[in-house]
Amino acid sequence: MRIRSGWATRSGFYMAAIGSAFGLGNLWRFPYVVGTHGGGAFVVIYILCAFCIGLPILIAELMLGKVTQQSAINAISVITHHKKSRWLWAGRLAIVASLLLLAFYGTVSGWVLYFLMQFLMTPLKVESADTTVLFQQLMSNGYLQLALTGAHILIVAFVVSKGVRQGIERWVRFIMPVFFILLLFLMFQSLQLPGSEQALRFMFYPDFNKLTLSTLVEVLGHVFFTLSVGMGAMVAFGSYLQPDISPIRAGVIVCSLDVLISLLAGLLIFPIVFSGSVGVESGYSLLFETVPLLFSRMGMGDYFGIAFFLCLYTTALVASMGLVESSVSNLVDRYRFSRTTASYSIAGLGFILAILPSLSSSFLKDFRINDWDFITAYDTLLINWVLPGTAVGLSLFVGFKLNRSDKWKEFENKYQGDSREIFGVWQFVVRWLAPIVIALALAGELLDFSF
Ligand code: TRP
Repeated sequence: MRIRSGWATRSGFYMAAIGSAFGLGNLWRFPYVVGTHGGGAFVVIYILCAFCIGLPILIAELMLGKVTQQSAINAISVITHHKKSRWLWAGRLAIVASLLLLAFYGTVSGWVLYFLMQFLMTPLKVESADTTVLFQQLMSNGYLQLALTGAHILIVAFVVSKGVRQGIERWVRFIMPVFFILLLFLMFQSLQLPGSEQALRFMFYPDFNKLTLSTLVEVLGHVFFTLSVGMGAMVAFGSYLQPDISPIRAGVIVCSLDVLISLLAGLLIFPIVFSGSVGVESGYSLLFETVPLLFSRMGMGDYFGIAFFLCLYTTALVASMGLVESSVSNLVDRYRFSRTTASYSIAGLGFILAILPSLSSSFLKDFRINDWDFITAYDTLLINWVLPGTAVGLSLFVGFKLNRSDKWKEFENKYQGDSREIFGVWQFVVRWLAPIVIALALAGELLDFSF
């Protein structure tokens, strides 16, 4: 087995893994799904599922990559010693998932790019900007959305074609800490607003009566999405791990930071919601209609606007790079594509797939699949169904097929903390608990659908 060149530094890997986990999932999607699913109870179940189900599968993916030094599809065939193993469907589905997700993610990244451009082009005018109008204008302009999505995907392909290490490490190292501090600052500003008490109650006071089975499906899907699990991305990142880094510890760090940042995003957005006229159930537009309002009430708001959307765009870029990377690494490892060909082919395909969601609020707004417009269809099918499905496949694979001694070695990692006592619990979760919970939730939802 060939040994890959590892990350340049230990923090380089962390930065890349954290960079791919941290993104629109935390800042844009988390607040809006919390809003549309009733608040507190969703948040509680989300935190539980992130640590009890998402984290063990995240560790499983990282471990599979680290042990085999290969990206998802090859990793599976190396372990099964079989070119046609039926487990390979999990790897293939992972590629499909990352492509579709790239299309969906690219569309939303285009929106972020638009807001960034607005703040850059019209400095000092934020007081008069009616943010709802701004978002609606963008939604009704299909050509603009398509152009922004295309621009975004092209930028991503360009960076990825230059190689993963140079591509990702440098960006993330600088922008993550800056964004974190900016978010903390903005959160404190937001918590001064009159609606903050109501916001805290909404986010942390669970009303379990509001829970239904679809909440569980929604939580699980979001957990996989936000942790970048269920599409082999973490297998690819794990494959670059140096021997002395423990995938268990890396998983715990990534998961904890990810949850923390999502909560920060909620604490930033909900006080604005409860202090003004934006509805808690606004959905996609929630982030874009609230945060600019905060800037309009702050001194130097327009500069904060630029900084915020610049950071947000950078995280969207890094996450998109991770998405492309997870397909590219499969094409390079398995099908011997050159990195450049692979990057541009994936980007081209991603763009074609992005046409439907990019136009879904304008030209295609009357097309419905099961009452969803295209972007909702991508979001729901992919995040609530495909990601959990692939996650189950990868979880069972690592649980049952990966050599026990290989797994054990990672838990007794000599360099970075010994975590042998949790091996049994982890293995129980990836073999049984996670697959059963996911299967039950999906089966319940399916029954619900047909009645
Ligand atoms: N986790 C990312 C976010 O929250 C999105 C994402 C999902 C992702 N899967 C990925 C990023 C795979 C990189 C690779 O925004």
